[in-house]
Amino acid sequence: MDMLKTPFLADMMRLSKEIYAKGWGEANGGNISMRITPEEMFPFQHCLTTGITTKLPFSLPELAGDYFLVTGTGVFYRNIADYPHESLGIVKISDDGNKTTMVWGYTSGGRPTSELPAHLLSHAVRKKNSQGKDKIVLHTHATNLIALSFVLPLDTRVVTKELWEMMSECVVLFPDGIGVMPWMMPGSLEIGHATAELMKSHSLVMWAHHGIFGAGKNMDQVFGLIETADKAAEMLLKVMAAGGKKQAITPEELKALANAFGLAPLAGVLD
Ligand code: 13P
Ligand code: ZN
Repeated sequence: MDMLKTPFLADMMRLSKEIYAKGWGEANGGNISMRITPEEMFPFQHCLTTGITTKLPFSLPELAGDYFLVTGTGVFYRNIADYPHESLGIVKISDDGNKTTMVWGYTSGGRPTSELPAHLLSHAVRKKNSQGKDKIVLHTHATNLIALSFVLPLDTRVVTKELWEMMSECVVLFPDGIGVMPWMMPGSLEIGHATAELMKSHSLVMWAHHGIFGAGKNMDQVFGLIETADKAAEMLLKVMAAGGKKQAITPEELKALANAFGLAPLAGVLD
């Protein structure tokens, strides 16, 4: 079977178009990674080769043997579906967890995204936290969330409460809130470690003045998570521009809403 016909590649190509259509992936802005287990990859072994091996600046034994379908650095979201072999690639994590080997794609001399540290460190955290269910880490330059990071205090609980107040779906889709971090050097090890630290307790992490990282079990779920947070951010910006809130969903109503779905909202936000 052709690798392009696998559900992994089909999903990646479909979502790349949607991300571009949303305006969240200008030029090479944003990147995606999808964890594929050795069992899931087994039927497609004949499509794989052994390419360049690269040492990682950390060791992640939790990911040993896993495969990652990852967008290439410098790749434009708008071109991924038309040029999948050049735009995408698959790397395998070594048995000791500290090397990657390219096993598919990245033709024309490509290599994985410059944000690979943030992706792999986040996957390691989310794999453990979700008992293996979380498979996707998605970074986009979501317009309204970025804009919001210029006007709200860069505080996890403040930003979480503001977004939850905007629409009922927010506390239901991200009861664990949105982790907020200051601007840091893109592609650095530092931004990678800081993101993974916040991913221990939040499925969404805001990179101030840059973008958003989301994690979850499949592409649609993570896309929906970011889409919902970005819509809430858009409404908040409109409300601010219109002179500010006159009323909002109250903390008691948000608690009752979370309770109705059997969810525990992030502590310290509604008290
Ligand atoms: P890459 O082109 O290396 O994926 O980087 C894009 C980006 O969004 C950096 O944060
Ligand atoms: Zn970015």
